[in-house]
Amino acid sequence: MSEQPYTPNKQRYNGGAVPYRYCGCSGLQLPVISLGLWHNFGDVDDPREAVRMLRFAFDHGITHFDLANNYGTPFGSAERNFGKVMQSDFAAYRDELIISTKAGHAMWDGPYGDGGSRKYLIASINQSLKRMQLDYVDIFYSHRYDPNTPLEETMGALSDIVKQGKALYIGISKYPEDKTKRAIELLRENGTPCLLYQGKYNILTRKIEDSIFPLIQKEGLGFIGYSPLEQGILSDRYLQGIPQNSRAALSHGFLRRSQITPEIIEKAALLNAMAKKRGQTLAQMALSWCLLHPAVTSVIVGASSLKQLADNIQSLKNVDFSTEELQQISTISG
Ligand SMILES: NC(=O)c1ccc[n+]([C@@H]2O[C@H](COP(=O)([O-])OP(=O)(O)OC[C@H]3O[C@@H](n4cnc5c(N)ncnc54)[C@H](OP(=O)(O)O)[C@@H]3O)[C@@H](O)[C@H]2O)c1
Repeated sequence: MSEQPYTPNKQRYNGGAVPYRYCGCSGLQLPVISLGLWHNFGDVDDPREAVRMLRFAFDHGITHFDLANNYGTPFGSAERNFGKVMQSDFAAYRDELIISTKAGHAMWDGPYGDGGSRKYLIASINQSLKRMQLDYVDIFYSHRYDPNTPLEETMGALSDIVKQGKALYIGISKYPEDKTKRAIELLRENGTPCLLYQGKYNILTRKIEDSIFPLIQKEGLGFIGYSPLEQGILSDRYLQGIPQNSRAALSHGFLRRSQITPEIIEKAALLNAMAKKRGQTLAQMALSWCLLHPAVTSVIVGASSLKQLADNIQSLKNVDFSTEELQQISTISG
């Protein structure tokens, strides 16, 4: 995938472009902005832009890349393509990177390629390591709660993956509050505490503030938010219709055209006007807002171009909000 040999920016930790926060009570720090490879890094995407974004991210202190077994079109291709860049560009910097992957959603046919069984999780981490050409990942997640598998089995598999050295830390994603509580207990009993919770968090999706946030703060876990831009809705992308190359227009995009409703665009337009007054783009304001809550360790952005990623990093230049602005955002988001 790479063309020119890569030499990272020597100032990547000195410029302070992307600060770090401790992940809950652990000793691990994450950049406040992480890069997600769900879209834009698969076989259907532009490989040169993908490499440019990965390099740019690392050059600006983004040390965390978030993947899953089923990321990319086709499934697995984001991990495979990332593995190529690991080899070509980042091999010498493995110890400077936090690489996460997950299993939990449908990945391969038959009864062992979906859910939370020990069989699936252990087979999947082995596949992910092969695709990414890694000896270990830093964080391995259960991608979703599986009501058909005892939590003891799922958590036991995650703990064994850590004990086998295939992952350094464990995360859980999208678990309901009561199952989160029990998962935390089980992982602690197993001697492999849960590092962090990954959940959707943005101006339009705030339920988690009253359920998961108090729990993880009490238990000392970190939180990493996904889809901080609501897949692009919280940007100027859809203010004038649905652009041809946007996620909502692409057949392999997970954002459906039907989600771009007049009501949602009205909210985005109001937020866009607010962002302009603050001297930010809407995407920048949406990201700065996510970082306000003390429970939040990091937000995982997606980007389809280097320009978007660069725009997103600029959000860190204005992270203060007045009480009036926060009230206005709450009113708009409803
Ligand atoms: N745990 C889970 O279940 C779960 C679920 C979803 C996501 N995630 C993780 O979270 C990551 C981020 O999710 P996401 O991709 O939905 O995040 P997002 O940041 O909400 O949306 C990314 C999309 O927003 C648009 N965008 C980004 N920056 C922009 C800018 N500056 N200006 C205008 N538009 C901009 C782009 O859309 P276009 O492509 O249209 O340009 C981009 O593809 C994923 O890659 C994955 O790692 C985890």
